[in-house]
Amino acid sequence: MKLRALGKSDIKISPVIMGTWQAGKEMWAGIDDNESIGAIKAAYDAGITTFDTAEVYGNGHSEKIVGKALHDKRGDVVIATKVFSNHLAYKQVVNSCHQSLKNLNTEYIDLYQIHWPPGSFGGKHVPLEETMKALADLKAQEKIRAVGVSNFSLSQLKEAVAYGNIVSLQPPFSLFWRQIETDSLPYCLENNITILAYSSMAQGLLTGKFGPNHTFAKGDHRFKNRLFQPEHYKRVQLALDQLRPIADGKNITLGQLALAWVISHPGTAAIAGARNAEQATQNAKAASVRLSAEELQAINEIGKVVTDHLDDDPVMWKW
Ligand SMILES: NC(=O)c1ccc[n+]([C@@H]2O[C@H](COP(=O)([O-])OP(=O)(O)OC[C@H]3O[C@@H](n4cnc5c(N)ncnc54)[C@H](OP(=O)(O)O)[C@@H]3O)[C@@H](O)[C@H]2O)c1
Repeated sequence: MKLRALGKSDIKISPVIMGTWQAGKEMWAGIDDNESIGAIKAAYDAGITTFDTAEVYGNGHSEKIVGKALHDKRGDVVIATKVFSNHLAYKQVVNSCHQSLKNLNTEYIDLYQIHWPPGSFGGKHVPLEETMKALADLKAQEKIRAVGVSNFSLSQLKEAVAYGNIVSLQPPFSLFWRQIETDSLPYCLENNITILAYSSMAQGLLTGKFGPNHTFAKGDHRFKNRLFQPEHYKRVQLALDQLRPIADGKNITLGQLALAWVISHPGTAAIAGARNAEQATQNAKAASVRLSAEELQAINEIGKVVTDHLDDDPVMWKW
């Protein structure tokens, strides 16, 4: 897989990144540790070098699984993790980082991201300057190599940039969730900040496997995803019906089409979550899909069947 630069850093990332929220188990259903490890190893074998996790995914469980799966490949992979919004005071950031290093069984984190802006999920409104100072100190100590942010609005991103080198923004971004197109995306492009798109298959919706009457297993958080609500779900199915012939014509899956659309954007990588090896292997193949200008335009228009009816709320879930 041809690697891409990560913002203004010397780190190279794969255009398809393996997401490991699933490996944390919490908020998902039917996740098995051995399958998670198998998924991560299969992703690596298929050319994915970059892995995304967070301290909050299963309270460190996802990080531990990532650490186990990749320990013998540490020098060949890029590990991105995140500090949650309840740990943004100076000492908390340092403690969280040390805990993540332990969980990941590593000496350094390649990309350390602020998961949600200060004040999110009942967290304290710690001044960004304080959090950024802690991150700068961790970088000076070589505990982390680069700093990124996630779920930041454009103005929050600009504030963070004033305090240090932000190499990436991790927002929700898929064919069905495109709010960044009008603000953060052009800003990031102009300022060489890489977009790490999360839920790039709209949490599985863009694989086309969830039919009109789908219900999730108990414990699966996705029933709270706004795209699965009845007011949008019908249009989602309509759009999928229009995407299917394009994917079929290229002999690829709908999921691969969705990922290829994301990574066709310059300066953008797609984080693809997977619960098993088969999904991870399939997702990696999206990196070699080429979409023509005509195909991209057609796909763009189809996505709007869904996105034209979404409001400005940047959060994908009704928590
Ligand atoms: N920064 C943030 O706040 C944030 C938020 C969300 C996600 N993320 C990151 O982004 C990653 C990806 O986002 P996501 O997991 O929400 O959404 P996603 O990648 O769009 O969807 C993942 C789901 O899609 C299905 N899937 C994946 N590959 C498939 C395949 N080849 N065939 C069939 N189904 C497939 C699986 O559903 P089933 O489980 O039903 O099989 C999987 O759980 C996460 O793991 C996490 O690392 C970050």
